[in-house]
Amino acid sequence: MATRSLTSRAAASARRGGIPRIPSICTHACGLFPLLRWVVLAWFGGLGVNPQEFLIRSSGIWALALLWATLAVTPLRWLTGQGSLVRQRRKLGLYAFFYTVLHVLAWAVWDRGGAPAAMWTDLWQRDFIGVGALAVLCLVPLAATSTQGWIRRLGRGWKRLHLLIYPAACLSVLHFDWMRAGKNDFLEPRVYAAILALLLGYRVVHRWRRSRPLR
Ligand code: HEM
Repeated sequence: MATRSLTSRAAASARRGGIPRIPSICTHACGLFPLLRWVVLAWFGGLGVNPQEFLIRSSGIWALALLWATLAVTPLRWLTGQGSLVRQRRKLGLYAFFYTVLHVLAWAVWDRGGAPAAMWTDLWQRDFIGVGALAVLCLVPLAATSTQGWIRRLGRGWKRLHLLIYPAACLSVLHFDWMRAGKNDFLEPRVYAAILALLLGYRVVHRWRRSRPLR
């Protein structure tokens, strides 16, 4: 029954010339994939010689990738005309936040030994850590107000609050870039920065086009 309705919805969308609607299960599969991958790697001893460092870094990369996926939803919606994509945005955003929390917890426990004084010193001593913390500060209110109740309560303010996604993304990629500066290895952060510039640039162009008066 459920399969039939899914197929007919996909067919209806194809008839309208759009891409088929993406079922939520695909979003959950993407969101849970990193977690599953770590479990499999841990089971088969594939976490490398320093599993803790591997997990700190891997959680950071997945947090960033899922944040970018969240930012890609709106441009994709405009390009494909698939309005229902917006339903996947909140899930992707929450998965991005979930991996950010794991990343920070992993740093706090494995890198700083769970000592608040050591965490506090690190925040001020290593610039890339301070910038990462600022990104987290931007992400917390977004995750906290992601429920329907908060959307209703905040009204127009909700949209304004959610503009914090932009500084959060910029600070996150800066965190990545500054972290790699110590290793003189900029390729990956610059690729992420280029994708972010593309995603944000597309929004600016789209809004500018829409605001132009019709001739
Ligand atoms: C309080 C906030 C944060 C702290 C304390 C923190 C801490 C760290 C640490 C300790 C590393 C590894 C450094 C090393 O191996 O030398 C790292 C790397 C990284 N972090 Fe964060 N981070 C924070 C926030 C974020 C946020 C918000 C994001 C993205 C959403 C992020 C993404 C990354 C990425 C992509 C890497 C590099 C991974 C790699 O090189 O493969 N971090 N972070």
